[in-house]
Amino acid sequence: MTTLFKHIKELIQVRKEPVSFISGKEMSELPTIKDAFLIVEHGLIADFGPMADCPKGTFSEIVDATGKMILPSWCDSHTHLVFAGNREGEFVDRIKGLSYEVIASRGGGILNSAKKLQHISEEDLYQQSKKRIEDVIRLGTGALEIKSGYGLTVAAELKMLRVIKRLKENYPIPVKATFLGAHAVPEEYKGNKEGYLRLLIEEALPKIAADNLAEFIDIFCETNYFSVEDTELILEAGKSYGLIPKIHVNQFTAIGGVQTGVRYEALSVDHLEELRTEDLEVLKNTSTMPVALPGCSYFLGIPYTPARKMIDDGLPLALATDYNPGSSPSGNMNFVVSMACVKMNMTPEEAINAATINGAYAMGLEHKVGSITRGKYANLILTKDISSYGFIPYSFGNHQIDQVYLKGKPFLS
Ligand code: NIG
Ligand code: FE
Repeated sequence: MTTLFKHIKELIQVRKEPVSFISGKEMSELPTIKDAFLIVEHGLIADFGPMADCPKGTFSEIVDATGKMILPSWCDSHTHLVFAGNREGEFVDRIKGLSYEVIASRGGGILNSAKKLQHISEEDLYQQSKKRIEDVIRLGTGALEIKSGYGLTVAAELKMLRVIKRLKENYPIPVKATFLGAHAVPEEYKGNKEGYLRLLIEEALPKIAADNLAEFIDIFCETNYFSVEDTELILEAGKSYGLIPKIHVNQFTAIGGVQTGVRYEALSVDHLEELRTEDLEVLKNTSTMPVALPGCSYFLGIPYTPARKMIDDGLPLALATDYNPGSSPSGNMNFVVSMACVKMNMTPEEAINAATINGAYAMGLEHKVGSITRGKYANLILTKDISSYGFIPYSFGNHQIDQVYLKGKPFLS
């Protein structure tokens, strides 16, 4: 099966030589080819270049992309897409003046979602999550990370991870699973955080490892949730089972989580709305990708991650949705890219690099997705007829997608 896309107005994020991620000034460069062709063979990118060099061979299918652009599909490296029900009630409470922290301290927030998730059947949880994954694929996401963390019992955490595994098996996009048992201390362990951490380490982790249910280990390192010491304990345990750290840090307060992440060679440190100079400095010249989640800042009205300062200081940055029922109930990467430009002063080039190749790196998928490179999955966005790629973030609240292709095939579901 060979597909030729011809007369592509602009082929975006073309990397002939594979790159792992892009940092600092280089983020403002987005290599493209105008009036291009792209050939897909057996689901992989086989060749591309200017139309003048397009080979004459025979193809199973030819797509005329005149007026349209092609870019690698979005890489969303931080989601909690498997959850039960929603939290519109808390949304209205916040509109009326209650803060996210106050709602959480009254048993709302993560504990509210956990209660719902503990009582839903695995099949219902799968059906709810299936709708969400199909929605985000239609919005151009072609690689995804999903966390547990709304179970908060061994049984419910395993249920979440099995649902993630089923999504992984049933959809043609790479899905990575993260164990986030340390998302909040459940009601039953109030005043006994150590007991809960012991449960996660001694009972949950061995089962997760035995059934191969997660690649990454995460913890909510935050005041009133888990301390730096708790983070060290969980990351140490996760690593002993082969799980790679990817952690929530500096969302509301800066307590040293970034330093711990770097020390434990976390693949990414995510949120960073409250970033001190020492946090920024410690990230320099490391393999840890900082990840900004502007949907959370938008929805909760908290500061945006200081992307401009980070990039100007030479750091890389990835963008992700944080899709979850409490702080970012949207999995729309198009809107994330737009918010990055409008609210974080990133240029369209920087935002697209952050949402593709850097997002791929933050999931350990940089060899498979995130750029137009020979041998990578042909997970692609074919745009509508647009004037420039800058129109994608400019037209906020809309998407400019004509068709999504996964491994070279149109996603029709
Ligand atoms: O990434 N910060 C911790 N976890 C989620 C929100 C959880 C919730 O409110 O349900 C986040 O923002
Ligand atoms: Fe999150």
